[in-house]
Amino acid sequence: MEKLKIAGGYPLKGTIKVSGAKNSAVALIPATILAESPVTIEGLPEISDVRTLTGLLEEIGATVTSEDGEITVDPRHMISMPLPNGRVKKLRASYYLMGAMLGRFKKAVIGLPGGCHLGPRPIDQHIKGFEALGAKVTNEQGAIYLRADELKGARIYLDVVSVGATINIMLAAVKAKGRTIIENAAKEPEIIDVATLLTNMGAKIKGAGTDVIRIEGVDHLSGCRHTIIPDRIEAGTFMILAAAAGEGVLVDNVIPHHLESLTAKLREMGIPVETGDEQIFIGKADKLKPVDIKTLVYPGFPTDLQQPFTTLLTRAEGTSIVTDTIYSARFKHIDELRRMSANIKVEGRSAIVNGPVRLQGAKVKASDLRAGAALVIAGLMAEGVTEVTGVEHIDRGYSCLVEKLTGLGAAVWREGMSEKEMEHLNHS
Ligand code: EPU
Repeated sequence: MEKLKIAGGYPLKGTIKVSGAKNSAVALIPATILAESPVTIEGLPEISDVRTLTGLLEEIGATVTSEDGEITVDPRHMISMPLPNGRVKKLRASYYLMGAMLGRFKKAVIGLPGGCHLGPRPIDQHIKGFEALGAKVTNEQGAIYLRADELKGARIYLDVVSVGATINIMLAAVKAKGRTIIENAAKEPEIIDVATLLTNMGAKIKGAGTDVIRIEGVDHLSGCRHTIIPDRIEAGTFMILAAAAGEGVLVDNVIPHHLESLTAKLREMGIPVETGDEQIFIGKADKLKPVDIKTLVYPGFPTDLQQPFTTLLTRAEGTSIVTDTIYSARFKHIDELRRMSANIKVEGRSAIVNGPVRLQGAKVKASDLRAGAALVIAGLMAEGVTEVTGVEHIDRGYSCLVEKLTGLGAAVWREGMSEKEMEHLNHS
């Protein structure tokens, strides 16, 4: 097991490049199951969630080859094998295997997904969609069993706006007979990316990126080549760390439109932000104004940036309120930030941040992916050395983080943990 060590206070300067989007990648890889010939995806991030999913495809008979940042999945010899346990538990996005395998094989057995603990994360809307398409869905001993004689297009209204349910229903519906209409669909850019891949494979999808998606089912989907979109959450994390500890940082390979809510909030704090076609420059501000944020579905402020943004707010001069309307318990980073001297309290779904505070290096633990990002940013801002454990969460979603931060002049390195330290951690 590893830990990250960060010596804080080094001014960050230069260019940092964003990788392909994790939350697209984890849907694009299962989508390849639906093709009848090889699919190549360019620009996948080097993260453990990608490795877990390609491993799962190999388990069910796919041949996966990777070269120069692209992978090719040959889905021709896949079989509908049950995946009740093992790797499916490692990440939330293994639920996309349900939609994709149901679409191709009309049956699937998939263990209930894992992923970050952010409060209740039900999948009732996914199941509602599969049932509307004609599948019988049961939950037996921690695994979801799906079976359909035939999938038939349907009109599906999502009671909760859900990224996962929207994509999962799309995956199953592209090969259903007739027309499917998803109403109250999520509008995140990752949904458009998955729809673009499916369309290149031969699917007929209209309206991805709006709240009504129309799909005409087709009998066959074939292989193609697809380039993934840049990761807006990784880009946002870099923008926040640049605002927190930078002296002029250019974030490269971004779609600035995807980050408008964050850009607006950074500007409101007094941070200079300049946007280009594929780059965003974050300048230095000595005094930061407090702001309130409320997480919302896209294009609102993303919940995935709430935790990193909270760290930045510890520098603001006054009180800021952070409210997460998407997840009720996405506040596990707060206790750790307090260990670093932050003045934050949690009340219900809000965190109240009082600043400015000069954070102090400490030993902290990342409980989930974005909490990890929040603590790394805190380490970069802090006086002294910060040790972050729970690095495996960070590795699920941030590609080559140490190398990228070192490129900006940060003092960050990985260290293995001694047996004594691991023992202590397991009992703490
Ligand atoms: N929800 C339901 N029922 C459902 C599905 C969702 O009640 O059937 C609720 C959830 O509990 C949550 C809200 O709806 O309160 C939104 O959940 P959504 O389904 O949109 O989330 P998700 O698809 O499971 C994806 C990202 C998350 C990101 C959310 C919100 C992936 C693999 N994960 O999760 O990313 O926070 O959308 O934008 O795409 C992360 O990257 O760190 C991460 C957690």
